[in-house]
Amino acid sequence: MKKIVVAITGSIAAYKSAHLVRLFKKSGCDVRIVMTQSAKEFITPMTMQALSGNAVVDNILDPAHEMGMGHIELSRWADAIVIAPCSANMLAKLANGIADDLVSAMCLASPKKMHIAPSMNRFMWDNPMAQANVQKLLASNLYLMIDPGSGEQACGEVGQGRMAEPEAIHDRVLADLMPKHLPLLGKKIVITGGPTREAIDPVRYISNHSSGKMACSLADAFAEQGADVTLVLGPCEAKPKLPMNIVSVESAQNMLDAVLVNIDNATVFLGAAAVADYRVANIADEKMKKTDDQDGLTLSFVKNPDVLATVAALPKKPFVVGFAAETQNVIEYAIKKLNAKKLDLICANDVSQGKVFGQDENSIVIIDTNNEKIELPRSTKQDQAKKIVNLVINKLGLEK
Ligand code: PMT
Repeated sequence: MKKIVVAITGSIAAYKSAHLVRLFKKSGCDVRIVMTQSAKEFITPMTMQALSGNAVVDNILDPAHEMGMGHIELSRWADAIVIAPCSANMLAKLANGIADDLVSAMCLASPKKMHIAPSMNRFMWDNPMAQANVQKLLASNLYLMIDPGSGEQACGEVGQGRMAEPEAIHDRVLADLMPKHLPLLGKKIVITGGPTREAIDPVRYISNHSSGKMACSLADAFAEQGADVTLVLGPCEAKPKLPMNIVSVESAQNMLDAVLVNIDNATVFLGAAAVADYRVANIADEKMKKTDDQDGLTLSFVKNPDVLATVAALPKKPFVVGFAAETQNVIEYAIKKLNAKKLDLICANDVSQGKVFGQDENSIVIIDTNNEKIELPRSTKQDQAKKIVNLVINKLGLEK
């Protein structure tokens, strides 16, 4: 029997928690309820007690619970903790390690990952502060986000912020508790992502618009299938959601060095980084000065090492997947790169008109060595990443 703590915070969606508890009970779970003071303004502890069959706890200093240490006892008892609904206020508390009520104290004391189902007005959800809190919680690797849905809100506005439906929360929490067959368990995967920066002088560099989003989505999609992922990441904001080995690099040469240190025994190498093809030949030791007698400036470049081609040429080469970012003749150039770099697969990316760099969505054509093409219509980079990973699993004969 799975032991679930449902933590309810102050939001109109608290009424949906009653249904969530019923679903967990129907699935044979033992459910305990923790409520904040404001949650009790939306739904009564009596209702939640009747549905869960257990006394509701709401007081951090309750002498009836293990000498006032209910937060510790609860977090140890639970197989899963789900905060549903999680208000903007609770999101902020959790993101900042505040523990001034039973729900936040229990979460801070929990050694296990917890599920959060946020619920709030659409402007609150879109607020940069709330979004920063979400990112902080995800980056901590202690929380799993069950994103709010879009639609009409209790306040009458329309947008994202409605708590996910109880069925979706129930299914996700129980699915995460089930042992899974993960086809890439124990397999080492190395991915490059983000841009590189090629120095001009100590304060200037040449780079590109890669945000690292595609690479982070791929890294998460491989990790979800059990892989042991090393992500060699150029300077960018994006970070993967799942725990993995992240190696931060700057230049193409740094990226190659980091890849070669990590590539031994890798099953797959995937080059999603936008690596500079050339670097400045002579990096100035001091900041270059503007001069009155010179209207222009010429820089000389030398070719960078090709990370992808270097890995594909290794004697014990992994399965190698490349990307081709092109603004014209996309398929033709991608096939040339597939052959010239001796890759196993290439993902052809039409990056014209700002369609891909930094965007959340993408469309890709995957081409293999038999010239077979799979078109992935425009969808989120997470979705594209899952499809690429499934294809790699299939090519490796490691079907789920
Ligand atoms: O980061 P995002 O904003 O999410 O955008 C994603 C992306 C567009 C950066 C990504 O999907 C992508 O297409 N990455 C490859 C970009 C690129 O530089 O492509 P290319 O056609 O120049 O290079 C071909 C392949 O060789 C790529 O796999 C590249 O990583 C690799 N390469 C290139 C040059 C070099 N010196 N070393 C390399 O390994």
